[in-house]
Amino acid sequence: MIIPVGIIGFGRMGRYYLKEFQKNNNYQVAYICDVDAESREVAHKQAPDAKIVADDAPIFADERVRVVVLSTTANVRLAQIRKAIDTGKHIIAEKPIADTIDHEWEAVRLVEDAPILSTANMYLQNAWYHHTMREAVDRGELGELAIMRICHMTPGLAPGEGHEAEGPSFHDCGMHYVNLARWYARSEYKTWHAQGVRMWDWKDPWWLQVHGTFQNGIVYDITQGFVYGQLSQQQTHNSYVELIGTKGFCRMTHDFKTAVVDIHGVTETKHIEQPFGGKNIDRLIAEMAESIMSGQRNPLMPSFRDSAIASENAWKMLEDARKHELPSIGTHEELEEIWEHRRNLKDGYGLLPRLNKNV
Ligand SMILES: NC(=O)c1ccc[n+]([C@@H]2O[C@H](COP(=O)([O-])OP(=O)(O)OC[C@H]3O[C@@H](n4cnc5c(N)ncnc54)[C@H](O)[C@@H]3O)[C@@H](O)[C@H]2O)c1
Repeated sequence: MIIPVGIIGFGRMGRYYLKEFQKNNNYQVAYICDVDAESREVAHKQAPDAKIVADDAPIFADERVRVVVLSTTANVRLAQIRKAIDTGKHIIAEKPIADTIDHEWEAVRLVEDAPILSTANMYLQNAWYHHTMREAVDRGELGELAIMRICHMTPGLAPGEGHEAEGPSFHDCGMHYVNLARWYARSEYKTWHAQGVRMWDWKDPWWLQVHGTFQNGIVYDITQGFVYGQLSQQQTHNSYVELIGTKGFCRMTHDFKTAVVDIHGVTETKHIEQPFGGKNIDRLIAEMAESIMSGQRNPLMPSFRDSAIASENAWKMLEDARKHELPSIGTHEELEEIWEHRRNLKDGYGLLPRLNKNV
């Protein structure tokens, strides 16, 4: 079966989707839509057989299109979700699924009541390294899971650079980790205490650490910030997850090329290194194709509900940080230096093609 698909929003993420659809024989990219002329030019070059449009109306009007990818920024997502449902198209949506908590829950209600398939790209739920670690937990290798420690710090998206509707870095990126902790805990958040810092005189915290408990008693800490050596001569990052149980532990880290999992369980000690897998879009679209063909939703696909819960909790944690001491460290001049530096980088963390002509 060939599934015609329309990609709406052809920026950084839209281009990742195109690459993966082009490798998957079950799909044909029928349309690419972007309001930006330069992005449409790139689309013409990268997908010469697709129709390239500036407005999404022809995509929704075309009955042959079975799936739409919603990879614009979140401010226009809810309207597109409504159109997809009205025209009976399956939805692969970028996170967050809408721009406000109310809109996100409206999107959840809409898709849960509609006869279409939907998924949100909470990509860590599709990562081999997290599945490997959750399987070790399920086999009892750690005893009882007690403590989760999660950290993701990179010199990524700088304040004011884009994704404005999606909030500070702890929401925009951090919601992935808020989702991941809940996925591992298999429980809902119960408590949190957050500490943030405003960097470079920006209005919002750009680094945040939160710790607390889940309803089942598991404790967590999450550290996220796009603050890690923005102006360092050679950029790097620090990203890890540790799961500590009553008897054993496991942990992972990655360099965006290779992911490494170490399991120190009661019956096994393993060191596994495999390709990182990027945003796992190959897996997400394969799961969607399989679901369409079988008529059964693949339960591995992250749901709109998962995304809305993660987003809402990430906002609450940010709100909590604002209730505590929120120091400001650094100057606006340093931020301007960072913007200029990122505009000229050829290879950097989270560069948006619209702002950086080198990508
Ligand atoms: N799942 C992930 O890991 C992940 C990672 C990065 C970004 N994202 C999310 O993906 C989305 C896109 O992010 P990005 O980094 O690709 O941003 P981007 O700015 O590079 O791309 C967005 C594109 O959408 C286009 N656009 C805006 N409004 C439009 C409209 N009404 N119709 C058609 N096109 C429109 C813009 O011109 C731009 O080209 C964001 O919501 C972001 O949070 C998710």
